[in-house]
Amino acid sequence: MYLNPVACFEVSARAYNWRVPSTSMIGPGGPGGDEGASAGPESRRTPEDIHSRLVCRLGRWFRPEWLYHRRHIVSFTFPLYTYCACKQPAVNITVSTRMDRWAGKVAVVTGASSGIGEAIAKSLVASGLKVVGLARRSERLEELSKKLEVQKSSKGKLYPLRCDVRQEEDILKAFDWVEKNLGGVDILVNNAGVGSNKRVTEDSTENFHKIMDINVIAVAVCTREAVKSIKARGVPGHIININSILGHNALLASMPTSLYSPSKFALNCMTDVTRIELSEVKPAIKVTSLSPGLVKTEILEASGFSNEIFNVSPYVEPDDIADGVIYVLGTPPTVQVNELMITPVGK
Ligand SMILES: NC(=O)c1ccc[n+]([C@@H]2O[C@H](COP(=O)([O-])OP(=O)(O)OC[C@H]3O[C@@H](n4cnc5c(N)ncnc54)[C@H](OP(=O)(O)O)[C@@H]3O)[C@@H](O)[C@H]2O)c1
Repeated sequence: MYLNPVACFEVSARAYNWRVPSTSMIGPGGPGGDEGASAGPESRRTPEDIHSRLVCRLGRWFRPEWLYHRRHIVSFTFPLYTYCACKQPAVNITVSTRMDRWAGKVAVVTGASSGIGEAIAKSLVASGLKVVGLARRSERLEELSKKLEVQKSSKGKLYPLRCDVRQEEDILKAFDWVEKNLGGVDILVNNAGVGSNKRVTEDSTENFHKIMDINVIAVAVCTREAVKSIKARGVPGHIININSILGHNALLASMPTSLYSPSKFALNCMTDVTRIELSEVKPAIKVTSLSPGLVKTEILEASGFSNEIFNVSPYVEPDDIADGVIYVLGTPPTVQVNELMITPVGK
């Protein structure tokens, strides 16, 4: 019988390795390296590693070239690997990720009661953070908090706080609560936002104020308060502003959006100004603009549009944006993502 030695090697090495979970989630670096991006050596084994390890061990008794010989692979090494597969005890692996450095830290997410903010809050809780979710619909926040509490995957916790970001007093109270109860803010996600389906030349002054208050002024107030807290404790921080592709190119809007696009252009500029202002601060306070294309959330309906667009245009899900937030937060201390644009394929 002829057995392809390479195939034998792969099958048996896989069998040996079968208890070791997929390495796809495992980052590079040894324990403690890259601020906790670590995986034990056991978890990074490839069939080649296992083969050379076994050959190395058996080399005490046998000459290595014997073990690589085709006949021996079939008659000796293959059964040996298979035996090892059965004997191999379950390996205890601690899979750590680049988000580990934020575990136990405090994130404030504005507009956490729905859509993108809700998805971001969930992801941060899953990454072990204490997340303070701000929004007016506190009942939604409370419901989400309870849901996350019973989920086994939730390593962190969501603290719901009612806050209308148009009211400076509400914002100040929220940050004060965070300071007194959780010790301060490490991450701020400025996500709360509103749109409008009116033309600039026809919309009301009240609506102009509302859009600018929520999409621009509230971001400035929250950023100021968060930076104050981060600087006072001398800790690393990250400010993430949820912008929009319409904050880069107003002509991408296929419908009237009043001051939405201008407000996001202002946010784009504010993000750069904030980053420049904080560039000398040590440890670093990173500042990122994350600009989604169309995301399936309640914002269109809340802005007076129909949801029909989701039937005709490609869109991404709120979780896709939350993944982007986790990516930028997980970058090494020496790396800053200034702008991350996430759009649906085909748009
Ligand atoms: N969906 C998209 O296609 C898309 C695309 C690009 C960018 N964005 C941006 O993504 C961000 C999130 O929007 P979304 O799509 O997730 O919309 P959404 O589902 O409507 O969520 C908006 C959030 O903002 C909060 N909010 C609105 N006014 C507020 C206020 N006065 N005080 C406190 N919170 C307030 C809402 O909470 P309450 O109503 O409970 O207060 C809600 O949690 C926005 O900045 C938006 O501009 C969205």
